Amino acid sequence: MIYLDNAATTMVKPPCVVRAVTEALTTLGNASRGAHEGALCSNRLIYRTRRKLSAFFGCPKSEQVIFTANATEALNIAIHGTIHKGDHVITTVREHNSVLRPLYRLQKDGVQLDVAGLAECADAAQLERLIRPETRAIVCSHASNVTGDLLDIASIGQVAKRHGIMFIVDAAQTAGSIEIDMVRDGISILCFTGHKAMMGPQGTGGLCISGDIEIEPFRVGGTGVQSYRMDQPPEYPTRLEAGTLNGHGIAGLSAAVDFINETGMRAIHAHEIGLARRFYEAVCGIEGIRIYGDFSSSRRCPVISLNLSDMDSAMVADTLYRTYGIAVRAGAHCAPLMHRALGTDEQGAVRFSFGYYNTIEETDEAAGVLREIAASNGLRA
Ligand code: ALA
Repeated sequence: MIYLDNAATTMVKPPCVVRAVTEALTTLGNASRGAHEGALCSNRLIYRTRRKLSAFFGCPKSEQVIFTANATEALNIAIHGTIHKGDHVITTVREHNSVLRPLYRLQKDGVQLDVAGLAECADAAQLERLIRPETRAIVCSHASNVTGDLLDIASIGQVAKRHGIMFIVDAAQTAGSIEIDMVRDGISILCFTGHKAMMGPQGTGGLCISGDIEIEPFRVGGTGVQSYRMDQPPEYPTRLEAGTLNGHGIAGLSAAVDFINETGMRAIHAHEIGLARRFYEAVCGIEGIRIYGDFSSSRRCPVISLNLSDMDSAMVADTLYRTYGIAVRAGAHCAPLMHRALGTDEQGAVRFSFGYYNTIEETDEAAGVLREIAASNGLRA
């Protein structure tokens, strides 16, 4: 199989990640639940990983790095824990359902929502015009999971700072691939996943909180400390981490951060974006092809979503996989407003997404196969 669905999850992980998870499976006890070596081993690992992640994302306080199961959980905690009835929130059409559905749910409870269009969110000055006295937050993704285009988060962060509102960023597609610095970029809460560009295990992710933001816990329960309190302990990270953490996954995530730091995020990104660009250039001349997103810059994610004329995206993806063993993702990619904005809500799009372990040979083969499918459907390739 040629795996080109890295925006969904990276399927090949660095060997050090596999080793770290394997070792953790037989060595970790339950962090904060005992004073024996197993529990302490887990505590140390989790403490070290928080510190690594806080340096990785420029989060000023490592105790404000909170572990979650994925970016969706992090976004739910951030959104539900800070936004209430009467507040106004600005988001964009580029969002994944992990942002939209929590916001739609709050909208039913009296939160006002403005959804900026593609041109509007690409320009921080236009977004700024949506701010009202009751605006509590701007919530947006760093990169679209459909087009791979980036938003200029640093400019939006400045706008949010100027108006004293929160800036919540969904970095599901960029964490591990594009450098993020919470302080420089003015991010209040950064939500990330560990299993995509970070190349860690599924079931890992988190949120990083800057400054003094008070987030109400989404989930309460056992913490291993202050057990006689009836409410959740108020200190971070305990406040937001009820229940046993995914120590085995966190061990893998920790190794993944080391791998990225040692290999160099820029080198990793240059490889991935080089493959994406090569693929783009090999297929952009196909008759009737529509490629979504802005390829004028290499500051983007290594994602190419496209359609071949009016061919159904799921049919193309099916042919790619069943006939040629090339794994991609088709359909709506959980981003309904983005597809509506692109005019692809019926057709969806075929998404090719490249990762660090993809090769030039795989890229050329996938491009050749796409040309072959186009030709066999009467499109000049
Ligand atoms: N959010 C993931 C994707 O874009 C699963 O495929």
